[in-house]
Amino acid sequence: MVRLSAVAKRYVVRASTVHALRGINLQVPRGSACALVGPTGSGKSTLLGIMAGLDRPSSGRICIDGRDLAHLRGRHLASFRLARIGLVFQAHKLIPVLSAAENVALPLTLLGLPSCERRRRVERMLGELRLAAVAKRRPAELSGGQQQRVGIARALVVEPALLLADEPTASLDEGGAREVLEILRLINVRSRTTLIVATHDPRLQTLASRRIQLREGQLVADSDPAPRSAGS
Ligand SMILES: Nc1ncnc2c1ncn2[C@@H]1O[C@H](COP(=O)(O)OP(=O)(O)OP(=O)(O)O)[C@@H](O)[C@H]1O
Ligand SMILES: [Mg+2]
Repeated sequence: MVRLSAVAKRYVVRASTVHALRGINLQVPRGSACALVGPTGSGKSTLLGIMAGLDRPSSGRICIDGRDLAHLRGRHLASFRLARIGLVFQAHKLIPVLSAAENVALPLTLLGLPSCERRRRVERMLGELRLAAVAKRRPAELSGGQQQRVGIARALVVEPALLLADEPTASLDEGGAREVLEILRLINVRSRTTLIVATHDPRLQTLASRRIQLREGQLVADSDPAPRSAGS
């Protein structure tokens, strides 16, 4: 599902170079659930951003679902991302003037799905994430946990092959974090959605069948470094 070869990322900040990633090699078969761990500044968010196609590596190759991201540009990259990759961030980036349901529907609208199909999928997603009762509210009228669930619903509504999440439980209390954990576990098991979750949360790490550890931009430990190919 995901294949990284010698991926490096350098940032130049006021004449000095930050090596955020230093030669990452990684293969993640379809259907895996991976926890991406490591101290602050070790490169987790940078790696997720590169796998999401939000950012380009300084060198190296990234293939997602058989496509080399370097060969996808502009509109083609945008529609590939929209249809295949779900993103969940700590700051949910919900659109403030849209209701919860409209936020969830947004990717389907951008993909051009007919409105009856859109409505059907959004309703199901809101039901599964226990958001039906607050569907008409705007983000500011929701709790942090509800906003986080709207963000997850929006990421999942397209039924992505790959879900990338950056600290999805960081702003939640115990109950909220457990809910998010259960949702991620459910979609991984039921839909065989490949999960890669950057986290400091030990509970989230128990969800994962594989633990990938970064330090100073290098992969320093991997509980399953040569995964059996599962149709990736
Ligand atoms: N846009 C940027 N410009 C310059 N340096 C950056 C940029 N983004 C990240 N970095 C640097 O790259 C390194 C890796 O950062 P990254 O955000 O990937 O770490 P992280 O593992 O996600 O940390 P955290 O656990 O705190 O979220 C850090 O040294 C960071 O300062
Ligand atoms: Mg980070």
